[in-house]
This record gives sequence, structure tokens and C-alpha cells, in this order.
Amino acid sequence: MKELGFTENNFDLIINSPGRINIIGEHTDYNNGFVLPTAIDRKIQFKLKKNDTLKTCNVYSNNFNTSFSFELDKVKKSEQQWENFILGVVYEIQQLSNKLEGFDCVLESDIPIGSGVSSSAALECGLAYGLNELFNIGLSKLVIVELSQRAEHNYVGTKCGIMDQFASVMSKKDHVILLDCQSLDYEFVPFKVEPYKILLLNTNVSHNLASGEYNIRRSQCEEGVKIIQKKYAAVNSLRDVSMEMLNEFKNELSPVVFNRCTYVIEEKTRVLNSVEALKNNKLDLLGEYMYETHSGLQHLYEVSCPELDFLVDFSKKYNEVIGARVMGGGFGGCTINLIHKDAINGFVEEISEAYFKNFNIKLTAFEAMPSEGTTINK
Ligand code: GLA
Repeated sequence: MKELGFTENNFDLIINSPGRINIIGEHTDYNNGFVLPTAIDRKIQFKLKKNDTLKTCNVYSNNFNTSFSFELDKVKKSEQQWENFILGVVYEIQQLSNKLEGFDCVLESDIPIGSGVSSSAALECGLAYGLNELFNIGLSKLVIVELSQRAEHNYVGTKCGIMDQFASVMSKKDHVILLDCQSLDYEFVPFKVEPYKILLLNTNVSHNLASGEYNIRRSQCEEGVKIIQKKYAAVNSLRDVSMEMLNEFKNELSPVVFNRCTYVIEEKTRVLNSVEALKNNKLDLLGEYMYETHSGLQHLYEVSCPELDFLVDFSKKYNEVIGARVMGGGFGGCTINLIHKDAINGFVEEISEAYFKNFNIKLTAFEAMPSEGTTINK
């Protein structure tokens, strides 16, 4: 840190950029469906300052105890994947504005990495938000969200949807966002689930397949749409496809593509039903939908893994857990559990022990509170 010339208090700006949870609506965002995410009380903090150079940028990560520097006129992909989140955002801002100048940035995070709570979106959006403020660029929140998503596509290589970036920036404390990923219309829904709470169980595995398999799922959905379009020209995405329509193509689609599409179409309806259940305080029903989502992700979309399935199955033995499923892209990371607050300690103890016995891996558990999106401390 010394080498970057920082002293503790000379930052121009501090940004808090949160991770996110998603109650339901997985792998629906890039299919133009609905999602129900919100930011959580885990964040990356960015300390930023102009460094009075025209083009030299220095970034330091407290967590990794590492730094890197680059020049604004020579931004290109790095061999170090974490640097690409930063470089990608800078590149995308440069496509929209010429106001960037040299800056120093220190990062500190309490979001577990590779756990399905989107430390990536927090990193992209926090930097985009901070640079926008620091250099008075004038980008709207939605533009910050979209450019951060493009950074992930173009520099990191995951063809993600818009959910994570949207949730990280736009969330409102104590609410979840019902986001229509086609129109980007959204509604804040109060997250009133007393006496239940959101508990995340981190498998502490993140299978390397994740990014490649994610892009494969996306293209399998597109493959399905292409075939359906031959008869239904107005169909643009799986958003426009019903199960009746899909069934007409059962013989033309490969079984794998058929399963992927089935999951997405069912999940689209499940999100809307879940929002009704939440609004009407039918929490048991909301929990059942979460279990149904897990089953779809396990058997039809095939983005689960033995560790996640174990945690979800184990939770079914407890009446106090009313819903559980894999959250985020899959292949590891966290399960999200809706659990009675009085049962949390006992449940965590028993499931941690059972998990360790089975996989020889330590489980980590933490509660997540629906929180405000990106905030600035000046
Ligand atoms: C990742 C992506 C999101 C979304 C989820 C799955 O978190 O970044 O866009 O597709 O997976 O729902």
C-alpha cells in the first residue's frame, strides 16, 4: 500500500458496493424473464482519489494484499482474472466518456468470493459508480449497471444477465426487487418474513466449470429459441414461450435443450407466483417454490453439485426450514435458506457437522439482510 503513496485519510470518496441474494428466479435474467434479488449487508468498500496524473491508475486489494497499475491509454485484458473486472469497467467507461484521469483505489471486501453472492458485480459496479462520481461523468445508475455487465461479458468472459449488477446498485433496504429483465421495469416488494430469516450456507466449493458451463447454458437456451422461431417468428426469447408451445418441439429439440427450456419456462411462472405468496404472507408456499427451483436446477438445468444437493436435502428434515435452494450461477457457492430465527443456531451446528462428515469441508453460514444498493460516504 505504501508504494501507492496512500495515507489513511486522504481519499476523495468512499463507495460501499454490496453483494446480492436472489430469493427466486435463477438463470431467467438472460432469458428475459423475472428475478427477485436484493443487495445484502456484505460489501466491497472502495476508497478512491484522483492522483493528479493524466493516465496512471493504481489499484490495491487489501484482501489479496496485492496491487497493480495501468495506464488509461493502454487498457487491455490481463492474465490475472481479478484485474479484468477493474480493467473491463475502465474500458467500458472509456467507450462512453473521455473524462477519466489517473486515480488510486484501495479495495476491501467482506463478500465471500465465488460463492454465488456476486462479489463480481459488487466489484464492477462499485468501481463504475465511484469513477462516475470522482470524475463527474454524469452516467445514470442504469448506465452504470449496463456498462458493468458489459465489462463482465467483454473482459471477464461470462455472458451474464443483468440481475447481479442491477441488484447491487438499485436495491432498497428491507425490500426485494421484482425485476422484469425484458423491459427493466421493476417494483420494490417489502421483504416481510418474520419470524423467518435468510440464512446462506456456503459449500466452500466453487467448481471451475462455472463460467464455461454458464455460457453453455445460455447458448442452449438460445438454440431452443432458434428452433421455436422457425414456426413462431415473434418469439425473441424463452420469455415468449409457453410449455404448450415448447411441447410442440419436443421431437425437434435435443433432450438436453428441451430440459433447459422447460426449467426456464417453469421458473418464469414460479417467480411471479412467489411474489404473490410473499405479498400475501404465504411463506410456506414461497418456500415450496424455492425447493421446486432447486429441483429444476438440479435435474433439468444441471447446474447443481453433490455438496449443494446434500445441503438442500438435509434441510428438508427440519420443519423450521421452509425453503432452500442453490443460489446464483451454481456449481458450488451458497444455498439460500428460509429458516425460523429460533432454529438457526441448532440447524447450523447439525448441518455443519453432517457436511464435514460427508465432504471433509468446513461449511460457513451467515445471515443475509436485504440492504441498500451502492452507497457513497464522502
Ligand atoms: C450469475 C449471473 C446472473 C444470473 C445468475 C443465475 O449470478 O451473473 O446474471 O444469470 O448467475 O441466475
